[in-house]
Amino acid sequence: MRVKIASVGAYVPEKRISNEELAKSVETSDEWIRSHTGIGSRHICAKDEATSDLAVKAAEQAIASAGIDKQEIETIIVASASGDFVGFPSTSCIVQERLGITSCGAFDVAAGCTGFVYALEIGKSMVASGSSSTILVIGVDTLSKITNWEDRNTCVLFGDGAGAAILMPASDGEKSGIIDSILGSDGSGAEYLMRKAGGSRYPIDDPKTVEKKDLCIAMDGRKVYNFAVRVNTELITSILERNKLSFENVDWVIPHQANIRIIQAAAGRLGIGLEKFFINIEEYANTSAASIPIALNQLAGSGKLKRGDLLLFVGFGAGLTYGANLLRW
Ligand code: ACO
Repeated sequence: MRVKIASVGAYVPEKRISNEELAKSVETSDEWIRSHTGIGSRHICAKDEATSDLAVKAAEQAIASAGIDKQEIETIIVASASGDFVGFPSTSCIVQERLGITSCGAFDVAAGCTGFVYALEIGKSMVASGSSSTILVIGVDTLSKITNWEDRNTCVLFGDGAGAAILMPASDGEKSGIIDSILGSDGSGAEYLMRKAGGSRYPIDDPKTVEKKDLCIAMDGRKVYNFAVRVNTELITSILERNKLSFENVDWVIPHQANIRIIQAAAGRLGIGLEKFFINIEEYANTSAASIPIALNQLAGSGKLKRGDLLLFVGFGAGLTYGANLLRW
């Protein structure tokens, strides 16, 4: 059975912080951030705004645009590394209640910034197996809530946001559908991108191991950068090769929006231009699991994406994880 993305939606918080504003509170500059990352600003949650608030707004758009009754949704999958609560309850259950869906399956996926790519493949497989016919997949993160705002190595990189998609069986004769996915992991790099404390390894009540900064994102930027360039290059090559396609067949690539230099370096290694890459990092920064669906929503809304276009999503993130989806829009 062909499983398609029937509709999309996205939401970012109203509050927007430019590089110049950030440079007032931490030792950095617009010039450094732009030249090292391509980022110009980021949208950040208000104090009383949490992950599910963003997720619900993106989901409502996707539901309205699919033209379905929300009660038709049989499963909600939320990909996030920064849920409303640590561990439980899952953000997907909060979203289910907030959307007013009386009964459906709901669970979260933890794959860092690759979360949406993972969740899409899980959702597709569930629809294809017949276990759920309509699935709401959300990629959402509010990394601003777990950022050490005194650490210039990380605080300039991230923004908050949510993106949602409705998955359904494609009708007979319809071209749209998810064709293939690659899901990968390399746990040997786990320490390079980590929120160290608050889990069972470093429980929050252990004063010897837990400082406030350990509850925030810690990152070895150079290691993550090298990993990201390598896996982006390999993912694009592998998924095209195993589907007997060349880059010429692809209409759009939506890469995880972490750093423009990562995208440029991967494209350089592949010997391809950036014309087919949809990039919005300048406005939103790295919104983690939300970056691909936010970009997809923007591309779909721009009128540039046509039904039947061949689309490629490529992502990487904490874990370390990586993954790609190949689909016809
Ligand atoms: N402003 C000014 N200077 C800075 C800043 C800043 N915001 N951040 C770092 N610097 C300084 C460093 O201290 C260093 O100074 P030093 O030479 O005196 O020590 C200098 O700039 C160069 O640092 P590098 O780490 O070599 O800079 P690099 O060119 O590698 O860029 C960056 C750093 C942007 C973090 C890059 O390595 C990167 O993008 N890595 C990938 C990060 C990423 O994508 N993370 C998200 C993963 S997805 C997820 O799951 C959340």
